[in-house]
Order: sequence, then C-alpha cells, then structure tokens
Amino acid sequence: MEQTIKFPVVNLSKLNGEERDQTMALINDACENWGFFEIVNHGLPHDLMDNVEKMTKEHYKKSMEQKFNDMLRSKGLEKLETEVEDVDWESTFYLRHLPQSNLYDIPDMSDEYRTAMKDFGKRLENLAEDLLDLLCENLGLEKGYLKKVFHGTKGPTFGTKVSNYPPCPGPEMIKGLRAHTDAGGIILLFQDDKVSGLQLLKDGDWIDVPPLNHSIVINLGDQLEVITNGKYKSVMHRVVTQKEGNRMSIASFYNPGSDVEISPASSLASKETEYPSFVFDDYMKLYAGVKFQPKEPRFEAMKNATAVTELNPAASVETF
Ligand code: OGA
Ligand code: NI
Repeated sequence: MEQTIKFPVVNLSKLNGEERDQTMALINDACENWGFFEIVNHGLPHDLMDNVEKMTKEHYKKSMEQKFNDMLRSKGLEKLETEVEDVDWESTFYLRHLPQSNLYDIPDMSDEYRTAMKDFGKRLENLAEDLLDLLCENLGLEKGYLKKVFHGTKGPTFGTKVSNYPPCPGPEMIKGLRAHTDAGGIILLFQDDKVSGLQLLKDGDWIDVPPLNHSIVINLGDQLEVITNGKYKSVMHRVVTQKEGNRMSIASFYNPGSDVEISPASSLASKETEYPSFVFDDYMKLYAGVKFQPKEPRFEAMKNATAVTELNPAASVETF
C-alpha cells in the first residue's frame, strides 16, 4: 500500500552537523524522485507562522468568504450534482513581492497582516535562495548559479498566492485545485497544519502531502526541470476538497525574472538534450492557457513559436 512510501521530510538543522551528507542525499533523492519535500527547522520563526495563519484565516472570514459564496451561486455550484471540471473550489488572492511589491495595493488587509506578510515574504525569499544553493551543490553547479540565472537583469519574480479551500459538500464532484505542474522555479508552501488536501502524483498514484505543524513544503517547477535537463522534475499535484474544515495554504513562487533566457545548464546538458531554450515570459504566456494540461506539450511547443500559438492562441494572461 502507498502508506508504506515515506514522504520525504528534511530536517534542515542537520545541515550543520555530522548528518550533513545524508541530509543532502535526502534532498537530492526528493528532487529526483518526488519533485517535492517537506522541511522542518528551516529558521522561520514559529510565532510568525502562527500569526500569518491566524490572520489569513481571519482575513478569509472577513473579506473573502462572502465573495466565495457569491461565486458558487453565480456558477450554480451549490448543488454539485454532476462532476465539475473547469472550476476550482478555492478562494485566492495574490501578493507580489518582486520585482515590485503590490502589498499596499491590496484592499482589506490590516496593517498587522501586511507587516506580517512582508516579513514572511522576505524570509521565504531568503530561504528560497538558500535552497537553490543546496540544489546547486547537489547538481555540481557552482554556488549561486541558479540564483544568478533567476536574477537576469531585473531580479527574480517572487509572489505569494494566498488560498483557502472551504469545506465542500461533494468532494468527488470538484477539485480544490485541478492537477498541474507549477511553471516557475521553486515553490515554498505553508499549508494548514490540520486540514489536508494536497496530493502529488508518484508512479501513477496520488500521494498525500501530510500536514505537519510549522513545516514548509517545497516543490520544483518546470523551469528547474529544464535547467537541470530533466535530472530534477516538476511533478503533477492537486488539491482535493474536504467535507469538513477550511484548508489554508500560502504558496510562494520564486521564479526567474520575466526576461530571463532559460536553457539547460551546460554541465548538465547532453547530446540527447530534449529541453528547449526560451525566454521565461514566453513560457508563462503559454502556461496561462494550458496550466491544467501535461507539461510535455509545453516543452515541445517552446521549441517553435507556431506550436505555441496553436496550444494557446490567446497567450497573454499573467499568472504565477
Ligand atoms: C498552486 C498549488 C497547492 C495548495 O497554487 O500551484 O499547487 O495547497 N497550490 O494550495
Ligand atoms: Ni501548484
């Protein structure tokens, strides 16, 4: 049974001790075989995480819940008598941190909430860069290589998607978030410590990403698959809905700058390199229209511009 498969949990504090090598190996195995791992002792203060969780839940109740219920009504989703495949059962808003913050343009956030999200975002940005260096070490790339690639001329793109997955009367009829791989670089997810829902696809089975208090879930996006020439993979994941409980999740996406040229690192490329080279923003334009489709046709399409417009004729919407 799948329960015997152990979802990788990495204790980052062990990087400073005699178990460093095993810890690095665990991270490498997770990147190669899961596309996901969960980290503890990552240095984010637990009281900040508790505060962010509490304020996110309050914000949902105060400013988002009514909108979500209105959306359900307007889309005729209260009854859920048949399967719904073109809508997600989620309530979200987006914070952009880099290249320019929009934190003060978002309505309905208290000053305390803004301050906490700013602090949280900055710490996650630093953590993302530290993690990229761990990946470099495992990949035999020089320290700073990935950070430098993501930086381009204008710095990385970094944003946070704040989501709530409210209880759903018919979990078998609709997903909280349909299956997809993430388009960008590295994703750091702070998820509800009680209500589960996130699942990843491993060897044909959907595996739960277990809630674990004060942990951060890490996963790799399509760009890291391209840069590593497929050594590391972005992995399909989804959120299933639950009958009971409201699941909070705060996903922060550390991505390349929009003008960055992405291609396999030369030391990882081979004669059989199948991955394309492209400008990150062009990939995002394509992704916006085909997010819930497999990544392979996207990689194929990026090899030539005609195929891009065939996959998504209206390629233009901005998304993480
Ligand atoms: C995403 C995502 C998972 C979650 O936003 O890309 O996979 O648990 N979110 O919210
Ligand atoms: Ni995702």
